[in-house]
Formats: sequence, structure tokens, C-alpha cells
Amino acid sequence: MATPAILFGGPSPEHDISISTGLQAAHTLKGVQAVYWAKNGGFHLVDADSEVTDFADGVPRKARELAFDARPGQGWILKKKPLDISVVVNCCHGGPGEDGTIQGAMDLVGYRYTGPGQTGSALGMDKLAFGASVVNAGLPSLPRLLLQPGVAPGFDGPYIVKPRFGGSSIGIEVADDLDTALALLRTSPHLGQGAVIEPFLLEFRDLNIAVRTYPTMSLSNIEEPRTSGDGLYSYEQKYLAWGDTGAPANTVPADVDPAMAAQIHEIAPKVAALVGVRSVARIDFLDAAGTLFVNEINTIPGSLSAKLFVDPPVSRRELLDGMVAEALASPPRAFSTHGADGTALRNASTIASKLG
Ligand SMILES: Nc1ncnc2c1ncn2[C@@H]1O[C@H](COP(=O)(O)OP(=O)(O)O)[C@@H](O)[C@H]1O
Ligand SMILES: [Mg+2]
Repeated sequence: MATPAILFGGPSPEHDISISTGLQAAHTLKGVQAVYWAKNGGFHLVDADSEVTDFADGVPRKARELAFDARPGQGWILKKKPLDISVVVNCCHGGPGEDGTIQGAMDLVGYRYTGPGQTGSALGMDKLAFGASVVNAGLPSLPRLLLQPGVAPGFDGPYIVKPRFGGSSIGIEVADDLDTALALLRTSPHLGQGAVIEPFLLEFRDLNIAVRTYPTMSLSNIEEPRTSGDGLYSYEQKYLAWGDTGAPANTVPADVDPAMAAQIHEIAPKVAALVGVRSVARIDFLDAAGTLFVNEINTIPGSLSAKLFVDPPVSRRELLDGMVAEALASPPRAFSTHGADGTALRNASTIASKLG
């Protein structure tokens, strides 16, 4: 019988936290298959009852290697047979698991999966395109531009420079002036795929909200994540220093005045719609002393944002069951074969002959 497959890990800086999200999902849903995506890109079928510690040295010893075949109806293959998968519950954070890459591959196979499709995933990961979409929709955003030599940003420093396709605060730097910002483009190992530049806020706090799309679009409580003294909410803070210790890293519900809460409630579904959010996503805002800006979206948020739904409470089980039900009900992406009768090819040869 086809069962859900939990996909987690992935060749991304957020590989480790994704193991934790994936195993939480596997333990909650039960009766699922667990597909571990190793840092080197290989896929492995692992015991769905595994613990995080089983991955301490990489691929668990009893894991069975899977092949991946992108043809329709194939997908993950164990000993020449495709796994019998009803839906893929994607628990990958960052990199190719969240940026549209695996989504495109799953579309080719014909898998049903949680989270947005390929294009929405790519938009959610691209800070430049996402920021432009937010502005285009008339929603509040800080000015955000591609950092490039010879283009003045049109606002004063200090600046914050972020990898265009980054996450988890990795590679984010503050620069007092444009020359320092541009120098980062040449020296930072995190900016190889480009960077965005925006004004660095001296006084602000982060405010996050999660949206859930099933059974209907609904919002979580607002969370104020704990930030460091220098204002940057770092990877270490999110996942290492407090993440697993049980210490209250974040405040939910956050203390937010009603007018700002109303603004967040109004904006969050609009941002979710821009990206075609499915399942659950977290939308992060910056509250600059009373002025609200949309900052970013995480389409596969850490722990699937289960802890943000406190009032009314939504259990992890309910959240995951909803995600699976929604994905089961969404048909896989269909590819048009219009023109595959040779018309397109004939047109192409006519054009080619005209061009000589
Ligand atoms: N314009 C800004 N001014 C000051 N701090 C910022 C600004 N933008 C982001 N930050 C801080 O940096 C953190 C990480 O930035 P973010 O855009 O969320 O990148 P990432 O995708 O790496 O999480 C935010 O949570 C916030 O604390
Ligand atoms: Mg962030």
C-alpha cells in the first residue's frame, strides 16, 4: 500500500535541523517511509523510528541506498523497484530541498508533495525576486536591491548585505558604507550567487507568523524570536544554543499592539498567496519601532512552525495530517505534450530553413 514518505536532510547548510524536523514528522505520522537525503546528495531509505543521534556520523549504518529516476512513475528506486509513495512530506530546509530543485524533480516523477510547487519555492528562496514581489503587491518592505558595482542603492548606510539565496543568517554582514559592502561581494564565500543590500535597521525586532493552508488558510499566533545583542538572529541562536535545550528561545504569543497585529494578519495571507504557499509557511516581519516591514518567507519552516499554533492550539499531528490530506487531494503537476505530434518540430525546421 502506498504510504507517505518523509524527505529530510539535503545538501544544504540547514541539513542538520532538517533531520530533526523530518524525524519529528516521521514519529508523529507513523507508518511512513523515511527518505534521508545525505549531504553528498545521495538518497537513503532509513528506519522511520531513527533518532537524530543515528545520523551523527552521516548515513546510518542500516540505511539502504536509493537510486533516483526522474521519469514519470519512477522516483526513488530500491533494488530496481520504485518505492510505493502516496505523498512526499518535504521536511528539507534551505538549498535544493526548499528552492524548487527537488520540487521540479518530484514534478517530473509525478509525485504529490507538501509545500509549494517549483516556481513558488524558487520565489520564496530568492530574496531579490521575493522582495520585488512584495513591493509590487503594495506591501511594506525595506528597499532591497541587487548589490553590484556601479549601482548606487539610493539609500544611506549602514547597510545589511545578505546572500540572495541564503537562509539561517548565514553570510549576512553589516557594512557601514558602499565600498565595504562591495568588497564583501569579492571576499565573502557566501555571496557567490549574488547579494542583496538594504538599509540596516538599528532599532527593530523580528516578528513571525505561520500560515497554514489546510483545511482553510489560517494563521498562527505571532512569535517574537529571541535575538542577540547585535540584532542579528543567527543560526547558532536558532538551532544550536537554544534549539534543543528546551529553553524558551521565543515568545509566543508575542506582545504586539492590536494595530500592528491586525496589520500582520492582513498582510500574511497576501504574502502567502504571492508565493503559492501550500501546507505551512512562516512569514517574517521586521518591526522597526512601530513600522512594519515584510522581511522574508520560509516555505518549509523549522519544525514546520508547529510551536507557533498555540491559540487555538494545533497539534503537530493535526498539522501533519492536514498537510498529507491536502497533498493527497492536489493532483500532481501535469506537463503539456501539445505539439508533440511533430507540429512544433516541423515549425522549428521551417524557421531553421528560413534562417539559413
Ligand atoms: N534590514 C535589517 N536591519 C537589521 N537587521 C536585519 C535586517 N534584515 C534582517 N535583519 C536581521 O537579520 C536576521 C536574518 O535576516 P533574514 O533576512 O531573515 O535572512 P535569513 O534568510 O538568513 O534568515 C533577521 O531575522 C533580523 O534579525
Ligand atoms: Mg530569517
